[in-house]
Amino acid sequence: MDQMPNQPKHVALIPAAGSGSRMGSATPKQYAPLAGRPLIEHAVHTLCRHPRIDQVFVVLAPGDRDFAACDWRCCGDKLMPLYCGGETRAASVFNGLLAANDAIDGNDWVLVHDAARPCLTAADIDRLLAALKDSEVGGLLAVPVADTLKRANAEGEVLQTVAREQLWRAQTPQMFRYRVLIEALRRADIAAVTDEASAVEQTGARPLLVGGSTGNFKVTYPEDLALAELVLQQFHGKR
Ligand code: C5P
Repeated sequence: MDQMPNQPKHVALIPAAGSGSRMGSATPKQYAPLAGRPLIEHAVHTLCRHPRIDQVFVVLAPGDRDFAACDWRCCGDKLMPLYCGGETRAASVFNGLLAANDAIDGNDWVLVHDAARPCLTAADIDRLLAALKDSEVGGLLAVPVADTLKRANAEGEVLQTVAREQLWRAQTPQMFRYRVLIEALRRADIAAVTDEASAVEQTGARPLLVGGSTGNFKVTYPEDLALAELVLQQFHGKR
């Protein structure tokens, strides 16, 4: 997509270098079959097809041989694999941001999205971009906590009911200015970072929560695949 002068680009960065050990399969979960395709294709296709996303970087394990075998025909030259995944998700994101440095300006937006969230929709992306367009920092898709929350001891006994007001479940994409995100990750204890927003929060900035959809959940356990397939059929017309 052609850029207007001085308009920041929107670049997606997809960490996909995990082993997915909680899936209990030898195949990393990003390549598990889902609705007739490897799981990773769903979110990557959605991001590549979105008219306001200019480029899509995918961070892969250095020895990955499955990515090249996927069907990327609809992605054109927007798609760019980076074989620089790290020990943790945050390390993969940081390595990817460094590797993509020449293609991104400090003011550009980076949308970090888990490969393991295949049910992302174009409407989710539209909402995020619209909500953050005037922000200097960025924010993330999230959904308010609906269940009652309990804090337990090591024996699984309830110690306390935790008030759920103002509690949200963080999703992805998490969208930040490139300079804000790379500086936050540089300063953070990477091993302790579970999402981009937590690193940005530690700098004193306040990422904005943007209402997401419950369908944009992370595939973590084998039973999540059946649920993701239903969501894809229902909302994306995929079977
Ligand atoms: O394991 P988890 O579900 O938290 O992974 C979230 C995303 O981060 C997945 O897309 C996974 O492939 C990616 N990841 C990564 N590098 C790692 C671990 C996870 O890119 N070392």
